[in-house]
Amino acid sequence: MHIDIISVVPGLLEGPFSHSILKRAEEKGLASVRVHNLRDYATGKQKQVDDYAFGGGAGMVMMIEPIARCIEALQKERTYDEIIYMTPDGDTFDQSMANGLSQVENLLILCGHYKGVDQRVRDLFITKEISIGDFVLSGGELAAAVVADAIIRLIPGVLNDETSALTDSFQDGLLAPPVYTRPAEYNGIGIPEVLLSGHEAKISEWRFEASVRRTKEKRPDLLKGTGWE
Ligand code: ADE
Repeated sequence: MHIDIISVVPGLLEGPFSHSILKRAEEKGLASVRVHNLRDYATGKQKQVDDYAFGGGAGMVMMIEPIARCIEALQKERTYDEIIYMTPDGDTFDQSMANGLSQVENLLILCGHYKGVDQRVRDLFITKEISIGDFVLSGGELAAAVVADAIIRLIPGVLNDETSALTDSFQDGLLAPPVYTRPAEYNGIGIPEVLLSGHEAKISEWRFEASVRRTKEKRPDLLKGTGWE
């Protein structure tokens, strides 16, 4: 998978992609991420990428021309399965969206800033608008990093233990069960006996029941219509 990200603050994305799982995915050749500085596609001395909103009002609007130039240049190199705009008024990102996006070849992500982008960018180029939650960040970069991380870790081979993504919270519509590691007793507090039994079927059953219990307690909304309510 290849992900291109367009940003006016590319430095914000250096950290997330040079560490841990995402770096490993790049090294294994399973995913590559390139960040493009929108200012490189701006013209004039000022390299202007934003301007006042027509009709007035506070806040600047990202201009269509540099964005169109950047997207069109990138489209000459590859065909994108989705051109995504990160915005608080997009569809809320969740695990099922991550699963779907992890199966495509090429993604282009545009990070919004200021008061957002000229609506014509959205109308002409964007195929999917994503929000990571009902709050407003100062730009789409951190949201794009969240989305890229959630997608890339699902690509087969990226995680060492392939099954670990399958047992994540939300992957089967439930929260993950509690987990424990050594020591088996800490200050007199033990762990559920069954986990020490070595009995795989019983452990699976306990984990499933613990998942349902935890989901009932913390996110009963996830159980609606499942029969596990
Ligand atoms: N840009 C600003 N806030 C955002 C959010 N919540 N999700 C996605 N992009 C954003």
